[in-house]
Amino acid sequence: METLHPDVEKVLFTEEDIAEIVKRLGAKITEDYQGKDLVLIAVLRGAVVFMGDLMRAIDTKCAIDFMAVSSYGNGVKSSGIVRIIKDLDIDINGRDVLIVEDVLDSGLTLKYLMKNLASRHPASLEVCTFLWKDVEGKQAAIDPKYVGTHCPDEFVVGYGLDYAERYRNLPYVGVLKPEVYA
Ligand code: XMP
Ligand code: MG
Repeated sequence: METLHPDVEKVLFTEEDIAEIVKRLGAKITEDYQGKDLVLIAVLRGAVVFMGDLMRAIDTKCAIDFMAVSSYGNGVKSSGIVRIIKDLDIDINGRDVLIVEDVLDSGLTLKYLMKNLASRHPASLEVCTFLWKDVEGKQAAIDPKYVGTHCPDEFVVGYGLDYAERYRNLPYVGVLKPEVYA
């Protein structure tokens, strides 16, 4: 067990949990995309760490690209407003696109992104999210094809996820102590 960051109250997913999740997802994606023209698109910045792990767990031809959108600012609540800050560099027309996302909450961010990407006529368009906050009574605006793990409806950090741009480098996913937000 790694030493805990002093701001972290509890660990939800350890490095070992994460490695297992990534291995499983990579194997499934490898199987599903044999012979296809796979393009992984990660949403900056949170999905960068997951992307780096996932792409190495995929054993079939694939390209990668990145998009940056903004919906949260520095806070912990969804604003519902999505802005494209960085667009793709490659053409996805006729290709098999898999969006790689860190966490799916309301799904509003991805709904907007998928509509935007669909207008560029990919052969297929799916989502792989590392975490899904699909707690009871809560419905996401999109349906992810691949889900790493379900996550409680708490604000989480680590493994790419931040609070005010901090904690992205933690190798595990955890919840911060309440006093950190104060
Ligand atoms: P929606 O509600 O659009 O939100 O599905 C998805 C985006 O919101 C951010 N998000 C989080 N970021 N810890 C974070 O660091 C969290 O617990 C969290 N929940 C949502 C994230 O950028 C995601 O892409
Ligand atoms: Mg994100």
